[in-house]
Amino acid sequence: MSAQIAPGVANLRANVRVFTDLDSWSHAAALEFVNASQSVRSEHRRFVVSFSGGATPGKLYDLLGRAPYGDQIDWAALEAFWGDERCVPPNDAQSNYRQVFDLLLSKVPLPRENIHRICAELGPEEAADAYQRVLKNYAVAPLDWPRFDLALLGLGVDGHTASLFPGSDVDARRPVMPASGHYGARPATRLTLTPPVFNSARQVMFLVSGSEKAGILADVLYGEYRPTALPAQRIPPSEGQSIWLVDRAAAVGLPGHAVARKE
Ligand code: 6PG
Repeated sequence: MSAQIAPGVANLRANVRVFTDLDSWSHAAALEFVNASQSVRSEHRRFVVSFSGGATPGKLYDLLGRAPYGDQIDWAALEAFWGDERCVPPNDAQSNYRQVFDLLLSKVPLPRENIHRICAELGPEEAADAYQRVLKNYAVAPLDWPRFDLALLGLGVDGHTASLFPGSDVDARRPVMPASGHYGARPATRLTLTPPVFNSARQVMFLVSGSEKAGILADVLYGEYRPTALPAQRIPPSEGQSIWLVDRAAAVGLPGHAVARKE
């Protein structure tokens, strides 16, 4: 069902898996999520996740709310964070929190106190300070933030990930910072976690689908290391694993890509 591709010159230590289509890709991502939750459970820890925005993970979120995936997850042990947020109220259709809540969190027995959204309606600076305090409450020493068991991330056609946009400065001294990036009709004023936070995750899972991502995916994984132009290159977890789940349409630019038959 999937094919593995060796890491490219950008040396992101990436484990790239290619799936025939968005459907098989979404099921594979759901299975990874379940496996990660169960391995954390076997260690008697809480399952600390950061969710991504964007259209790509919609089907994944939907699948996770239902059998056979949702009923294998100990939802009471999950702590939900967000990797980035757009500066809109939480009930706005453009809110990353709202997307995950509507598609997934509202459908599972997750206690409300386990939901740690970015309160972007406070405005960028105040929201960044407030979220920094939230992250600190769940910090795992020596970090000032939680160590995510799983950080879900997308990839923009311009190479952005979370709300780390090309050409923007990154203040790596802060775990969360205001950000600005024009991307289609989406709100440009945002907040984002910074690379040190993502890079301390046990596992980062990039979710990439669609032919429009083919060029940028090849650049990020196999092109020169140019993190200012290609912010997704800033995320090679230092002690964790980086998995790129990619569909065939997005993988056509990867060298030597091969896709197994759909079973
Ligand atoms: C957001 C995101 C962002 C997203 C990419 C990919 O809030 O917009 O978190 O980083 O993941 O823009 O978006 P698509 O999945 O819609 O292509």
